[in-house]
Amino acid sequence: MTTAAPIDWDDLARRAIAVSRNAHAPYSRYPVGAALLVASGRVFVGCNVENASYGLSICAERSVIVQMVAAGERDPVALSVVTRGPMIGTPCGTCRQTLAEFALDLPIYLFVEGNASPPRLTSLSALLPDAFRASALPPALPPALPT
Ligand code: THU
Repeated sequence: MTTAAPIDWDDLARRAIAVSRNAHAPYSRYPVGAALLVASGRVFVGCNVENASYGLSICAERSVIVQMVAAGERDPVALSVVTRGPMIGTPCGTCRQTLAEFALDLPIYLFVEGNASPPRLTSLSALLPDAFRASALPPALPPALPT
C-alpha cells in the first residue's frame, strides 16, 4: 500500500533519531530508534526497551509496530531505523517477521547517526523473502464442545 504523498525520508530519519534518545538500553548501550509512516499519513516512533532479564528486551522495530497497532492503524508504508554504528544495523529476524504480519513489502531506510557509514535503502521483501504468512495456516478449529 502506498500513500498519495511522497515519503519524507528526512522527517522519518529525524524522528527516528529523536526517539532513539528515549531508548532504554543500559545493558547493550546500543540505542535504536524507528519511525514508521502509515497509510493515513500518521507517523509512529519506537525505541528499544531492554530488561534486566535480557531476553525480555524489545527492539525498536517491534516497539513501533506495537505503537501503530495500539493506535488502531494497520498499514505501514515506510520505515526508518537509526542505529549507533559504526556499522549499519539491520532489523533482527524476529522484527522482520513482525513487520511481515502487517506488510507484504515495505521500504526500509537504515542509517547511522552522523552517517559514519553510508545509509542503506532496502525493503522488507529483500530482508525477509518468503515470510511465514497467515494464509499458510489451516482453517480455524471449531470451538470445543462443552464437557
Ligand atoms: N536492536 C533493535 O532495537 N533493533 C535492531 O534492529 C537490532 C537490535 C536492539 C536490541 C537490543 O536492545 C540492542 O539493540 C542490542 O542488540
